[in-house]
Amino acid sequence: MKEKIGELLEDVKSFHADNMDQLEAFRIKYLSKKGIIPALFADFRNVNSADRKEMGLLMNGLKNAVQEKIILLKNSFENTSEIKEKPDLTLPSSSPLGTRHPLSIVRNDIIDIFSRIGFNVSEGPEIEDDFHNFSALNFPPDHPARDMQDTFFIEKDPDIALRTHTSSVQVRVMQNSKPPIRTISPGRVFRNEAISARAHCIFHQVEGLYVDTDVSFADLKQTLFYFAKELFGENTKIRFRPSYFPFTEPSAEMDISCNICGGKGCNICKYTGWVEILGCGMVDPNVLESCGIDNNKYTGFAFGMGIERITMLKYQINDLRLFFENDMRFLEQFKSSN
Ligand code: PHE
Repeated sequence: MKEKIGELLEDVKSFHADNMDQLEAFRIKYLSKKGIIPALFADFRNVNSADRKEMGLLMNGLKNAVQEKIILLKNSFENTSEIKEKPDLTLPSSSPLGTRHPLSIVRNDIIDIFSRIGFNVSEGPEIEDDFHNFSALNFPPDHPARDMQDTFFIEKDPDIALRTHTSSVQVRVMQNSKPPIRTISPGRVFRNEAISARAHCIFHQVEGLYVDTDVSFADLKQTLFYFAKELFGENTKIRFRPSYFPFTEPSAEMDISCNICGGKGCNICKYTGWVEILGCGMVDPNVLESCGIDNNKYTGFAFGMGIERITMLKYQINDLRLFFENDMRFLEQFKSSN
């Protein structure tokens, strides 16, 4: 019996398994109810008392050797499978390249166009106070003009609201810097509007501001003419219609010749040949004063446009809700764009 245990111990020590199945067979062979170890322990009865101590030690040694072997091999399998699951970070990606959202493409185009003529980019908070969103921009308290932009107020504090335009950012720029100021403010804005093909309660704007000595309406026109041609093509024409904004005087809305039909008339321009793209005007002297800029010395122009609207015109998209649904069939159509 002593010899038999010695042989079994050699077997156990030299045993190697390539996988879990082989290891399990090994375990069953030795440790299961009908396995070698229980059989040995059953035979222990027949060992004479002089040899019992030595045999007991040998048998326990064999049992321990089997158990250790199982643990050792099990660990080695787990470690290798762990290594297999770890990603190889040096491999090239097999996933397809992502695409930019159409609104981001157009926002970047607009930023590019204005940065070429010296405009920087400014950003500000989406949750604003009344001063930056309204008062500094010449909206008198309780003036109906505040209703032009249906506002989301923060409950319990009517002084705090989600900004309705990024003009609020320009107030901050004017407060914190000295002319000459040339800045554009892209960003998300919020208005309490019913969601439809033409309107959403969240949308994006780019507003622009130029403040310096001797800034005139001619500068405004020339800047926006350059912008429209760069974005919509060399043959684009522009026209201004008088309008009203509390923060600009005079104010105008700017149309471009319809980029779809070239001005001949189609359903996009409702057969007028023109489409409206932005609001603009000369900064009201009251606004300059509210923001700490000497309105005897400086004048300025401002403009603001909705990125959704510009993108719809540029890519002939007829429903604004598509921008917010993240339907891959829509987004993938912008694959080849920058
Ligand atoms: N802030 C205006 C709006 O959100 C747009 C605008 C900006 C108009 C600057 C004129 C001058 O509708």
